[in-house]
Amino acid sequence: MDSFAATQARMADLDDRIRAAPDRFRVLTGERPTGRLHLGHYFGTLSERVVLQSRGVEVLLVLADYQVITDRDTSENVVAHVRDIVLDYLAAGLDPDTTTIFPHSAVPSLNQLLLPFLSLVTEAELHRNPTVKAETAASGRALSGLMLTYPVHQAADILFCKANLVPVGKDNLPHVELTRTVARRFNDRFGPVFPEPEPLVTASPEVPGVDGRKMSKSYGNAIALGMSEDETAAVIRRARTDGDRRITFDPAQRPGVSALLTTISLCTATPPEIIADEIGDRGSAELKRRATDAVNERFADHRRRRSELGADSDVVDAALRSGIERATDIADRTLDDVRERMGMRYLPHR
Ligand code: TRP
Repeated sequence: MDSFAATQARMADLDDRIRAAPDRFRVLTGERPTGRLHLGHYFGTLSERVVLQSRGVEVLLVLADYQVITDRDTSENVVAHVRDIVLDYLAAGLDPDTTTIFPHSAVPSLNQLLLPFLSLVTEAELHRNPTVKAETAASGRALSGLMLTYPVHQAADILFCKANLVPVGKDNLPHVELTRTVARRFNDRFGPVFPEPEPLVTASPEVPGVDGRKMSKSYGNAIALGMSEDETAAVIRRARTDGDRRITFDPAQRPGVSALLTTISLCTATPPEIIADEIGDRGSAELKRRATDAVNERFADHRRRRSELGADSDVVDAALRSGIERATDIADRTLDDVRERMGMRYLPHR
């Protein structure tokens, strides 16, 4: 069994443990603020975070702004992206009074954990990370020091708050594995400070973009949560379907048609085959009309809340301010503990 399959197999059991004792879990997850959140984020991760929060699990969400410069030269618009993402978080139901939302650059003591953590890994280990290899290849650029070491920085994102549960996509599993290694080695060398966090791979299916490939801003196939109804219609109108008037669900042979069926399916909680049967031989135009309606109806409330919240700029400020404050408190305490364990305390406790 590969590590992905093994992880999936543990999910049901984990779910039981969360229900039984939500207060034994601290969840840390997050994303790179490179653009607007889209349906893939919503069905893949955002809705799961809302469920965890509602079950009484403590959730911390890192907006990994330093990761934005792993594979590009600019951090342009990062503030706008962070603020836009926070709006989606709030509109989706995340409560900034209980869920801690922060950009990691705003929490200096979190970043300082990177130094001792780097001492615990070898260059060879860093070069073996399959996700770093793939991202470097895709970027077509020379491997930067940050690209090589960002998984260790991600370990700091996770360990600063001693999180024990980390929801991630499959591509982030190597980073959670490395985080476990860092925690274990730190504890062995300096004493027990960190838990070894478990990954939580989201159960929902991969959300296809309008071209049938995985939904991704960089493929230009994404429907952003914050799009208007007309923008949504325009994206779906451009979807590449085919001339066969009979609509069938066949992801391998008909990726475009099937992607729209999956989109409708996710938005309406109806199996894609049933939707295909309903449309029958009324063709792509009907399929696109239904997909547009399904998305616009499913996200009408979300979008209304987004624009209400967005009309008051203080709401996002307040969420970020309290998130940064709480994350800083936690990170300061962890860094203190880490320095103490390493024998680097120079002044007595005040
Ligand atoms: N690497 C994650 C991504 O690709 C973002 C991220 C940064 C993250 N730090 C994290 C995810 C900590 C989970 C836990 O989007």
